[in-house]
Amino acid sequence: MTIDPGDFRRVLGHFPTGVTVVTGAGEDGPAGMAIGSFASVSLDPPLVMFCPGKDSGTWHAIRETGSFCANILGDDQKDVCGIFAMPSDDRFAGIDWTTDATGSPVLPGCVGHIDCDIHAILDGGDHDIVIGLVRSLAVTGGQGPLLFFQGGYGRFEGL
Ligand SMILES: Cc1cc2nc3c(=O)[nH]c(=O)nc-3n(C[C@H](O)[C@H](O)[C@H](O)COP(=O)(O)O)c2cc1C
Repeated sequence: MTIDPGDFRRVLGHFPTGVTVVTGAGEDGPAGMAIGSFASVSLDPPLVMFCPGKDSGTWHAIRETGSFCANILGDDQKDVCGIFAMPSDDRFAGIDWTTDATGSPVLPGCVGHIDCDIHAILDGGDHDIVIGLVRSLAVTGGQGPLLFFQGGYGRFEGL
């Protein structure tokens, strides 16, 4: 059975996600991209995952470093998501980033971050499935998470 790409996008677009910016810092400077495919995997050992496109230049730069940091965006950081989803010569211009255990950029103003070593890279079709072993993690902001749904942004409201 063939799945129509338009149907795939439309139906999967009905599943909401949070938004992270996954970063790494190599010899060529910091790299980062908006990622909605971030998820937790395992508590023992502590593993998380995300799926970058195989042809993403940013993913190749992060992969070289052997580590990554997933920065959880808050509902006041739609602009940050835009910066890290659009082509740019320097997505980190004007961003005062810090580091945690791995040296990967920790972005200011986020809900929190999960700092990881790359544990495994699995084949996921036109994407890679990246498993991260958590080295350090923290909640650093009090705001709610930025949500992405059917191509638009929103915020969480408890029922
Ligand atoms: C909300 C949101 C979620 C995204 N999630 C992913 C994702 O999970 N995997 C991916 O490869 N790209 C994802 N992207 C697209 C990348 O952020 C975008 O293609 C970015 O430009 C890739 O960086 P590069 O072109 O420097 O490689 C997402 C974009 C947005 C706006």
